[in-house]
Amino acid sequence: MRHVLFVDDEPAVLDGLRKALRSHRHEWTVETANSGAEGLARLELGGIDAVLSDLSMPAMNGEVFLGMVRERWPEVVRVVLSGHVEAAVARRLVQIVHQFLPKPFEVQQLFALVEEALVSRDLLESPALRRLVGKLGDLPALPQTFSALLAEMREPNPSFQRIARIVGADPSIAANVLRLVNSAWFGLSRKVPSIEEAVRLIGLKPIELLVLSAEVYGSAAAGALGAQLQFVALERARTVRRLLEKAGLTQFSAAAQTAAVLSDVGLVVLATRDPDTFARVTEEKTRAACAWDLAERRVLGTHHGVLGGALLGFWSLPTEVRQAVTRHHGPWTEVPAVSPASALGLVVVLEELEPGGAPDARLDAELEVLSKAYPGLDLAPFLKSKQHEEAA
Ligand SMILES: [Fe+2]
Repeated sequence: MRHVLFVDDEPAVLDGLRKALRSHRHEWTVETANSGAEGLARLELGGIDAVLSDLSMPAMNGEVFLGMVRERWPEVVRVVLSGHVEAAVARRLVQIVHQFLPKPFEVQQLFALVEEALVSRDLLESPALRRLVGKLGDLPALPQTFSALLAEMREPNPSFQRIARIVGADPSIAANVLRLVNSAWFGLSRKVPSIEEAVRLIGLKPIELLVLSAEVYGSAAAGALGAQLQFVALERARTVRRLLEKAGLTQFSAAAQTAAVLSDVGLVVLATRDPDTFARVTEEKTRAACAWDLAERRVLGTHHGVLGGALLGFWSLPTEVRQAVTRHHGPWTEVPAVSPASALGLVVVLEELEPGGAPDARLDAELEVLSKAYPGLDLAPFLKSKQHEEAA
């Protein structure tokens, strides 16, 4: 049973939520508070799994309240329920809360969204992850070029020259990016000689993703595995972008693409920081002829998605990106909310459904619930077999 606390200054809203959630009374115990102060008092007593708060409340607004919840009870899932949120406020909230749910919403949507955040939280708090992180010692820091790039892109008028200078400051990253931009995979009709021209030609977001992928997977230590993971990550980002475009849900695209690029960061960290453990995982993968995450689950009790999610928390990346990385190998047992996490989850399942491969009951079941979150979306063009046909 989950304990979920709703905070809103309008009693009628709280009443409505209570009634609407009655169908989930076997899964959730719903509690309510009329103000931030009352909410904090309830949290003091302990046992709350998730807090869902309105933004505009007298005395203490939702942003202040949820900020305090994050400070004092970081393990509690935090969700904003709100009407229009200004872009500047939204940017600050991304660092504080796990999810936004714009009003009006369906109660089923709210339930799925909170459950999704709770599953990620449970994964990130598993003893197996703690053991693994403990073994890995110092975790790698946020990639520097990527973070300098993000800072420049947050400027009101980002300059292509400055971006080119930031990327060019690390020649190995610049070379990696230019090699990809000029590769057949990108499909440009002419040769791109410089980063500055690449930015002009393909745009800021693709450059950001290329830099991030180069920095995360392109180190000499990551070697051939890194190169392979980088390609998978970029292909995954492209697929998730196409899928969200087709579904008309481009508002999730930027976060989902970043998460796609970062999805296997945990694998590269494991391989480079703990080669002995990684060798055991590789052995199990070969023995059982299974995917990385399954071999990791058997050897470590957790997997690289969860490790990557923990790392992204440490890097203070937005929680929606972190959640998507944590969950990119599921589990998906119930119809999730539409989110970067479920979109990426869907793309990964589609990727894993090998054309002509042995039937896999787990993947089939996950595909079934994930596709229900995206009704009306034709998944055929996103199946691997289809992509191969198209490429041929
Ligand atoms: Fe993965």
